[in-house]
Amino acid sequence: MTRKILVTSALPYANGAIHLGHLVEYIQTDIWTRFQKMRGHECWFVCADDTHGTPIMLRAEKEGLTPEQLIARVHAEHSRDFAGFHVAFDNYHTTHSAETRHYAEDIYGKLKAAGLIEVRSIEQHYDPVKEMFLPDRFIKGECPKCGAKDQYGDACESCGAAYAPTELKNPYSAVSGAQPVLKSSDHYFFKLSDPRCQEFLRRATREVCKEQPEAINKLQEWLGEPGENKLTDWDISRDAPYFGFEIPGAPGKFFYVWLDAPIGYMGSFKNFCAKKGLDFDEFWGRDSQAELYHFIGKDILYFHALFWPAELEHAGYRIPTSVFAHGFLTVDGAKMSKSRGTFITAESYLAQGLNPEWLRYYFAAKLNGSMEDIDLNLDDFTQRVNSDLVGKYINIASRAAGFITKRFGGQLLHGHLAERFQADLPGISEAAEEIAGHYEARDFARALRRVMGLADQINQYVDKNQPWVLAKSEENAEQLHAVCSVLINAFRLLTIYLKPVLPKLAQRAEEFLNVAPLHWGDAGHLLPPAHLINGYEHLMQRIDPKQIEALVAANRESLEPTVAPAVTPPPQPSPAGGEGKVGGAFAPVIGMDDFSKVDLRVARIADAQHVEGADKLIRLTLDLGTETRNVFAGIKTAYDPAQLVGRLTVMVANLAPRKMKFGMSEGMVLAASDAEGKSPGLFLLSPDSGATPGMKVK
Ligand code: MSP
Ligand code: ZN
Repeated sequence: MTRKILVTSALPYANGAIHLGHLVEYIQTDIWTRFQKMRGHECWFVCADDTHGTPIMLRAEKEGLTPEQLIARVHAEHSRDFAGFHVAFDNYHTTHSAETRHYAEDIYGKLKAAGLIEVRSIEQHYDPVKEMFLPDRFIKGECPKCGAKDQYGDACESCGAAYAPTELKNPYSAVSGAQPVLKSSDHYFFKLSDPRCQEFLRRATREVCKEQPEAINKLQEWLGEPGENKLTDWDISRDAPYFGFEIPGAPGKFFYVWLDAPIGYMGSFKNFCAKKGLDFDEFWGRDSQAELYHFIGKDILYFHALFWPAELEHAGYRIPTSVFAHGFLTVDGAKMSKSRGTFITAESYLAQGLNPEWLRYYFAAKLNGSMEDIDLNLDDFTQRVNSDLVGKYINIASRAAGFITKRFGGQLLHGHLAERFQADLPGISEAAEEIAGHYEARDFARALRRVMGLADQINQYVDKNQPWVLAKSEENAEQLHAVCSVLINAFRLLTIYLKPVLPKLAQRAEEFLNVAPLHWGDAGHLLPPAHLINGYEHLMQRIDPKQIEALVAANRESLEPTVAPAVTPPPQPSPAGGEGKVGGAFAPVIGMDDFSKVDLRVARIADAQHVEGADKLIRLTLDLGTETRNVFAGIKTAYDPAQLVGRLTVMVANLAPRKMKFGMSEGMVLAASDAEGKSPGLFLLSPDSGATPGMKVK
């Protein structure tokens, strides 16, 4: 049965760049919608920029633009970034649109008619210089608990206390610096405390969050025990000056940005319906049979699971089928940080020439449909992509394609290919439904583990049959043809399974395979006998760790000190043990963080010379693959320069250069020695054979 599915991602604010954290969400949603489309369902993916509110108004002013100019520019930037990561919205609109205004007024009008809107006067901080009311985050002052200066209006970053902005001592406006005054004005409230809302939310939020027990727990906490009535009315208006929609019949009052933001989902879809000739009500009407899903971050669950369904319900629309919340992105185990260079924008990732599908694959491999945070570990990223995508998946095509092209004119086996495939690689085609189940449940991690398991099975088949050996004698031509034809078919099946995650790569694979765009159902059959494939061109590069280093460097905001750090004395032997060992006591324990600061590389000793006037030093010219370094090493007592030339060793490649009497030393080679001097000698380290200059040592 063909399902009708409407999917959204949260609407990004129009005052900032898209970063890798955002992309967790947009990539996740994109994979899911691509999967649904491949399954043959009618599935639409819409989004928009979230354009209203005080921060955007002030940001535009600061840049000397009108809010309209700012949001137009950001709309273009966001669209470019999403396209760069192959996030394929069917429509990317804006909340500052006629459609969104229409539904905001409509919903507000219906809530009002239902008696769920109430006007009350409230007292708030007002900036008398700027002549505007101040949102909490634009008021600063001293913490009422610990006295720390320059704290925001809701919580203290120093002692962690939470408070109301009215409790701040010596408050000032972050906009003008003026001392705010308390001023009252009329605000419009959505009466969530009304028994109708309470009763509805107890029922509906369970339904909307049914796939995520963690979300249900949160909501339970917010709603309290039955009869507790924990929800308070929601303030949905803001006073002028405000960039947003003016409330009908209330001059000078505007809808709060969070009132019209989710309505932007409707606005974007309405805009799309007009272009496509679709029926809006089929998706949003009270009796809609279509499915509606919102993908969001866990920080905005409150808005999507409480306010939003309550608005829809009492304005006569359908409510979401489910809300899918995800966790936050960390990089190397910590919050994204500008000083560490891990606050990485989408734009800079692409500008560094990194392949967006590497990130899509990595995120997918970590996403399991829960609300847990997900970590982008940069070393693991490189390793995972290189070993899974290039080493396992791409490898299958690259090992088989050449023989088919050169030896068999690009043509696959004529007869009995299906029987042969079933006998040689059972289960590959049959895995389609199981993998689909994992995608459907948004457990992409599990889907990919299954696919990589299949890739392992196929690679074992390659190793067992050794096509490169078969190719050596004419007698084995038939067997070679069969093995390679089986492999090309296996590659095609994996391409289907990976296509939601890797759309661009799949497209190139389709060109190579000489087939029409692959759908999920295509997993049920093989390529026809004697099918002609096209010449193989390498489908994906490996990640070079240097690219990741460059990315982090490009995003690092404060410059690292350029002077060499003071030489730290060697740690004192600890009394707790270690004595009597050849190397002396062990140094204090360090974390992985500290260790990973040391960039160890394989280096080739390109040249080694005596140094005039130095009786311990040898001048080494070290080849790092991409550059050479001059290093003075105190190893003359143990080595003759001539015997060193040509051998590989290990060096510290990021040691600050040190000026010595004889010239600059740009690094350090590693050698073993007995700290106490009990046994003589000095032993330069060497990697096992096969290592090449520039390789990282970890
Ligand atoms: N404008 C609101 C959403 C309105 S939806 C009707 C908003 N915008 S946002 O730009 O701050 O965030 C957009 C989405 O990206 C949210 O779902 C948010 O949770 C998600 N993320 C923002 N930073 C994130 C990470 N560091 N990690 C994962 N997701 C993150 O909220
Ligand atoms: Zn404090």
